[in-house]
Amino acid sequence: MKVTPWEVEGKIDYDRLIKEFGTKPITSKILKRIEKHTGELHYLLRRGIFFCHRDLDWLLDKYENGESFYLYTGRGPSGYTHLGHLIPWILTKWLQDKFDAELWFQLTDDEKFLFNQKLDIEDAKKYAYENALDIIALGFKRGKTFIFTDTDYSGELYPQAIKVAKKITFSTAKAVFGFKNESNIGQIFFTSMQSVPAFLPSVKKGKNIPCLIPLAIDQDPHFRVARDVLPKLGFYKPAIIHSKFMPSLSEGGKMSASDPQSCIFTTDTPGEVERKIWNAFTGGRGSLKEQKEKGGNPDICPIYQYYYFLFEQDDKKLKEIYNSCRSGNRTCGECKRELIDRINSFLKKHQERREKAKKVLDKFILKS
Ligand code: TRP
Repeated sequence: MKVTPWEVEGKIDYDRLIKEFGTKPITSKILKRIEKHTGELHYLLRRGIFFCHRDLDWLLDKYENGESFYLYTGRGPSGYTHLGHLIPWILTKWLQDKFDAELWFQLTDDEKFLFNQKLDIEDAKKYAYENALDIIALGFKRGKTFIFTDTDYSGELYPQAIKVAKKITFSTAKAVFGFKNESNIGQIFFTSMQSVPAFLPSVKKGKNIPCLIPLAIDQDPHFRVARDVLPKLGFYKPAIIHSKFMPSLSEGGKMSASDPQSCIFTTDTPGEVERKIWNAFTGGRGSLKEQKEKGGNPDICPIYQYYYFLFEQDDKKLKEIYNSCRSGNRTCGECKRELIDRINSFLKKHQERREKAKKVLDKFILKS
């Protein structure tokens, strides 16, 4: 297993990540505390897809004492958005609605340029604004949602980033991110850019505002560093909730935009979706006869995981899918057919909203 901000490989052991990263599991106790304020629990929380955190209890203490928080998350624009990217954003949207919180959304075009040998900065920028359409399509509130690319908002970000950079030594950056002498110096500096939105609203408002960052667990190392540095600059440490990765359509691993067959993009056509799902790996048996006799294995099946992560939000119905697979009543063909229909109806609506987003894009974008 390998989990770094730039590479995720192998079978992910989430309990081991909690230990190695030093995060806290999201317990039923803390979920009840959230539910007290939200009235219900989002399926991503209920199912443990968001599975660990840092300082969520502190954030709730603050909230209960009348200090409301803002949300911060981001995306490295190296390509079109795929369904896995949507997972943290979907919870972020729910949190925005429930807590009436601002969202600061960073698009790290600089990062993708610096870390990806083949991507030039114009392409990263182009993808950044493509990805922004998906963010807006999810329904984030206008006037409370601020989306920016690092290069176009650098006038605000850079003066803060250097304050962070001054407090991080090369040896810390090497230890946390594994940089080598051959690493380019932009990469070494980059983490300071990602830390800025965790305190920029506090700078702007002239007082400390708690920050909650929903993210996929691979991004945690950046904020381990930021959480060390920010108190030295007089700011709160950001709180974090971490999600699991939506799995790849091929066997094992997470969805990856660099392997287009392994994931569904929000821009895919119905035909592309159909082809990718038909070709996907499943937990099914070698023959229909064997499937009927022995049942399938949803635990290793990406098709089942798609229902679990996004396409069946009703726990009872999900359980039925699980059980009917195990018992051999549900064939992979039926299961795939149904999923294709669900994905395509989701994407049809999403793509319509994405088109509309083009008209309001400038209402969401910050530039300096
Ligand atoms: N580095 C992230 C990526 O490659 C993008 C990002 C920037 C981000 N700021 C963030 C992700 C805050 C989560 C939270 O995807």
